[in-house]
Amino acid sequence: MKAASVLALVAGFLTVTESKIYTRCKLAKIFARANLDNYMGFSLGNWICMAYYESHYNTTARKVLEDGSIDYGIFQINSFTWCRDKRLSEKNYCHVACSALLMDDLTDAIICAKKIAKETQGMNYWQGWKKHCDGKDLSDWKRGCDVS
Ligand SMILES: *[C@@H]1O[C@H](CO)[C@@H](O)[C@H](O)[C@H]1NC(C)=O
Repeated sequence: MKAASVLALVAGFLTVTESKIYTRCKLAKIFARANLDNYMGFSLGNWICMAYYESHYNTTARKVLEDGSIDYGIFQINSFTWCRDKRLSEKNYCHVACSALLMDDLTDAIICAKKIAKETQGMNYWQGWKKHCDGKDLSDWKRGCDVS
């Protein structure tokens, strides 16, 4: 194999395993397009602020909790209730593999986050949101982004 193709191969692996960190405005656009603005009455700023404090916009963020369950992805969605990883006790209410919540394509993560907001009646599920975003003026979070 030529050096160039080896390099291409290595680069390919890197892009697969590398974590994707979204910028604030790129997320704002994706969230707006996915109709998160005012979803369940929560303005766009709430979702951007929440994603920041949950994952720092890191799509591959994973955190193992004390009970052994794992929080996945940009919204740190927990495996015990909302998605499916290996264990059987899980409820998987979002009907999605937890690994799908780590994708650059945020479609599955957004669908699941909407379901959580709907079924838990708000955004209190997210500790980061509760602590840092709830009740604050959140207009700065979409400032300078090309969203209305
Ligand atoms: C994103 O999260 C992954 C998994 O937790 C971690 O390995 C990676 O270093 C994080 N990226 C950044 C830029 O923090």
